[in-house]
Amino acid sequence: MILLAPTYQKPEGPSGPSRHTPVLLQEVLDALRPDEGGFFVDATVGGGGHAEAILHASEFTRLLAIDRDWEALQRSEERLAPFGDRVQFVHAPFSALESAIPAEWIGNIAGILADFGLSSDQIEDRERGFSFQVDGPLDMRMDATRQKLSAAKLLAESSEDQLEKWLREFGEERFSRRIAHAIVYQRRFGNLLRTSQLADLVERTIPRGRQGIHPATRTFQGIRIAVNRELDEISALLEAAPRILAAAGTLACMSFHSLEDRIVKRSFRNDCRSKDFQDVLPKGVTAKPAEIRRNPRSRSARLRAIRRSAS
Ligand SMILES: C[S@@+](CC[C@H](N)C(=O)[O-])C[C@H]1O[C@@H](n2cnc3c(N)ncnc32)[C@H](O)[C@@H]1O
Repeated sequence: MILLAPTYQKPEGPSGPSRHTPVLLQEVLDALRPDEGGFFVDATVGGGGHAEAILHASEFTRLLAIDRDWEALQRSEERLAPFGDRVQFVHAPFSALESAIPAEWIGNIAGILADFGLSSDQIEDRERGFSFQVDGPLDMRMDATRQKLSAAKLLAESSEDQLEKWLREFGEERFSRRIAHAIVYQRRFGNLLRTSQLADLVERTIPRGRQGIHPATRTFQGIRIAVNRELDEISALLEAAPRILAAAGTLACMSFHSLEDRIVKRSFRNDCRSKDFQDVLPKGVTAKPAEIRRNPRSRSARLRAIRRSAS
C-alpha cells in the first residue's frame, strides 16, 4: 500500500519497468547485511533494484521503501509485489524519514540505504526536464505533485545574485556570473521554458569545456539541486537516520558528486566521534572497472557506511 498525503492528486502512472541499473549492488549488500533479517529502509527506492536484492537476502527481512517520486514508487511497487507485505511504500522526501517510519520500527532498524540523485528512469524521461541532451519542459522536480517550483519558474523569478550563487555552489560552475546574467537578460525576450533553450543559452554564453562534457552540465546540476533542495534533504536525512538505527544497525549512503559526498563524509566523521558509531568504509567504496564498463553511471559513485555499536 502506498501512503499518501491527504491533498495528493494521483498523476498518470509510469510506462514500463525500470531501466535503472543499481550501482555497487554487492557492496551495498556487504555493508547492510540484510541476510541476517530485520527491518530495513530504502530511502530512495527508485527502480527498486537495491530493494529487491535486500528483500531477496532473507525471508525475515522487511523493507520500508521511500521515494519522493510517485512514478518511481509505482514502478518499484510492481517490481516488489512478489514480496507481499514484507514491503511497505511511502511517498515522501527522505527528510521526513522519522515521521514515515512505523512507530514500532524506531530504534529497531537494521539498515538504511540512501542512493542519492536521479535514476535513469528520471533522466531518460524527456518530460521530466532533467536532461540537456533532449528537449523537454524545464521542470526538474522530483515530486511534481507537491513541489511548486519548477526549474522554469525558478529561472523566471529568482534574482541574478541568487541564480549566480546556485550555479557556483551547487553547479560548481566557474562561469556562474556570466550565465546568471545571460538568464536574467533573456527574460526581456521571454522566459526560458524548455531544456533546449537553457542548454543553447549556456552554450552561447561560455567557452566549450573539456572534450565530451557539454557546457550546460554544471548549470543543469546547479538548477536541479536548487529546485529539489537536494543538499538540505541530505543533511536532514543524515541528522535523523543515525537516531533510529538499532544496535549494530548500518547507515549506507551513495553519492554521485563531491558536494553530496562532502556532506556525508563530514556527518559520518561527527557521528564516529562518539563511541556509538564506527565507520565501516573509512575511504568509501567506488565501482570497479568492470562495473563502470557495464554501467557508466557507476563511474562517479562513492558508497560510505557507518554502523552503530552492538551494545
Ligand atoms: C539513484 S535513484 C535510486 C535507485 C535505486 N537504488 C534502484 O536500485 O533502482 C535515486 C532515487 O532517489 C529519489 N530521491 C532523490 N532525492 C530524494 C529525497 N530527498 N527523498 C526521497 N527520494 C529521493 C529519486 O526520486 C530517485 O528515484
